[in-house]
This record gives sequence, structure tokens and C-alpha cells, in this order.
Amino acid sequence: MVGSTFVLEEMDIKLDTEYIGTNFIFYDEINSTNERLLTDETITQHGTVLLAENQFVGRGRLGRKWISAKNMSLTFSILLTEDIKANNLNLINLGISLAVARSLQNLYQLNVSVKWPNDVLISGRKVSGILLESVSKGEKIDRVVVGIGINVNQPFFEGKLLMPPTSVRREFGKPVKRERLISEVLNEFELILEQIKKDPNTVLESWRSKCDWIGERVKVINGNEELFGLFENIDSDGFLLLQQKDGTKKIISGDVSLRKM
Ligand code: BTN
Repeated sequence: MVGSTFVLEEMDIKLDTEYIGTNFIFYDEINSTNERLLTDETITQHGTVLLAENQFVGRGRLGRKWISAKNMSLTFSILLTEDIKANNLNLINLGISLAVARSLQNLYQLNVSVKWPNDVLISGRKVSGILLESVSKGEKIDRVVVGIGINVNQPFFEGKLLMPPTSVRREFGKPVKRERLISEVLNEFELILEQIKKDPNTVLESWRSKCDWIGERVKVINGNEELFGLFENIDSDGFLLLQQKDGTKKIISGDVSLRKM
């Protein structure tokens, strides 16, 4: 598979942010963009974005790996060091998936939905995965790293994955500019971060409106535990509310899938 090299200037032209991405670091190859921003204490600027063309050990949620295609996908992480409150982490998690979904809609008019907690889907197939990680010093959260992987220009996918994958190219019908897409995601994410501070309910409402599974029967897997029930809603902290025979259970983390009847 051949892709195109990332042209920083093309991203810069469309970047319209105060702090997200104003410090932009590019690596051709790295272990994991999340790992670097979590551990490299020389990088401190709030909103720093680290993009890598290739990750040797891309990390996925729940200890999985994230495999991406060089020059065809977007694999990047955003460092947050200011205004971090523990109870905002979930909102940031939902907020970044919303930013990716909105960007795909704005630029390519795709019919995008979000899947709890932070996958982005097109026609039921996964186009983007997100991994939020943080480092605390004592009681205080020191840094939050928001890692985003987007399948952009892959023409096809090999192997069997947990969630069937897709790419923007497959859904849009032609290759797209990765530089334009990342700038849109960063612009949208900064707007959402500001909204989280001022009016978190609006962010929750927007996320709910993009989640097709609310009201559906689902299966939630969390470690060894398998739970079945109705996806009632997400609560004001962004947790999944699962309605079961004996009441509603709050789900903090896990994998959700539609329950086949
Ligand atoms: C998932 O769906 O399991 C989450 C995948 C997150 C992948 C991104 S790619 C950039 C960043 N660096 C990593 O090592 N992982 C995240």
C-alpha cells in the first residue's frame, strides 16, 4: 500500500486554534505517541500534538494493540496539562470522539456515529479508536494524553479484527488529505474542550445524539464479566447506564456490542 507523506504546512493553513497543536511534533517512527507524551517530561506545553507516521507498539484500549498503515492513517496524541479535573476525564474521552465524528461529517458529509466510550463508526464499522491515558502525582493529575488513531486512506484491511474496520477513503469513495482532517479534528477538539468547561451538558447531549445504540439491547464485556441489558443512556459523568431486570447498573469501562436477538 502506498500513501502520501504528511505536509506540515498544509495542516498549518487550516489550523485555527489557540493552544491545541500550536506546538506540533512530528516523528517518522516511534514506539507509541501516547507513551512518549506520557513519559517525556521535557514536553510540557498544554495542547502539544505528537504525530507519528509509524508506531512500533501502538497501544489500544484494554491492553490491545493498535495497528495502523504508514502514510495512510493518522496516529497522534494530544497532551493536556492545564485545567485537568478528574471528573472531566470522561467528558474529554467522549469529547474527542465527538470531535472526530464532527470532523468527518463537516469535511466529507459522512454519516458517522459514536460508540461508548470513544469509538467512531461509519455504517457500523470502526474508523477511529481513541485511548486516553494519564499520569498523576499524588492526588493531582499531572498530564492527560489523548491518543487518536484514524483509518484514513487504507483501501482495504487484512485479517480479522474485533470490530470490522473501515477507512475514510472506503466510505468517501476517494483518498482524502490527512493534513486537512487532522486540522479539523484539532479545531473541533479545542472548541469542545472549551465547551466542557462552560457547559458540559451540551457536550453530553451532542454525544448522545450521535450514539445510535442508546435504547438498544447490548452486551458489555468488562474483564471476565459479561453483562446484558438495555443501553439506557450515559449519565452526567459519561458513564454507561445499563438497564437490567434488577435495576440500572453504572458501567465504568468495558466493550459494548449490540446483542443479537
Ligand atoms: C482503541 O480503539 O483500542 C484505541 C486505539 C488508540 C490508538 C492511538 S494511535 C495514537 C495513540 N498512540 C497509541 O499508542 N495509541 C493511540
